[in-house]
Amino acid sequence: MRKYTKYLVALIVIVALWFTISPPRFWVNLIHNVQPTAEVGAALVQKHDCRNCHRIEDTGALVGPDLDKILTHKSTDEIERWLRNPRAMNPNTPMPNYHFSDTEIAALLAYLKTLNP
Ligand code: HEC
Repeated sequence: MRKYTKYLVALIVIVALWFTISPPRFWVNLIHNVQPTAEVGAALVQKHDCRNCHRIEDTGALVGPDLDKILTHKSTDEIERWLRNPRAMNPNTPMPNYHFSDTEIAALLAYLKTLNP
């Protein structure tokens, strides 16, 4: 048994790194299962400092596009793809991948919809 210990430790380290750097979707959905409401979406925007780059409800920087009324000219499908993986939309984007779960994305969309009456 002892002679396999180092392989076991290496495996655990690799899996831990994988789940930290690029967590698989089933895993983020499991650990970030939230209520998909506008309130939760607003809290996520707060928590992740989206306003460092986006103007939302009239406050925030304009590094990225103004997210007030974004849904008047972008489809929910396109916004969802941005939230899922910004670099898949634009390889040079400064926007980080937050590894949002499906319910977190639904919450963010619900919130963005309230800005687009
Ligand atoms: C470091 C800056 C930065 C941060 C932080 C950031 N974004 Fe972005 N985001 C951008 C930029 C820049 C774009 C514009 C597209 C590009 O890079 O080509 C963008 C694009 C988007 C788009 C697509 C808009 C469009 O018109 O297609 C959405 C939606 C979005 N961001 C939402 C968010 C949310 C929600 C957060 C917080 C969880 C966030 N962003 C955090 C920089 C940022």
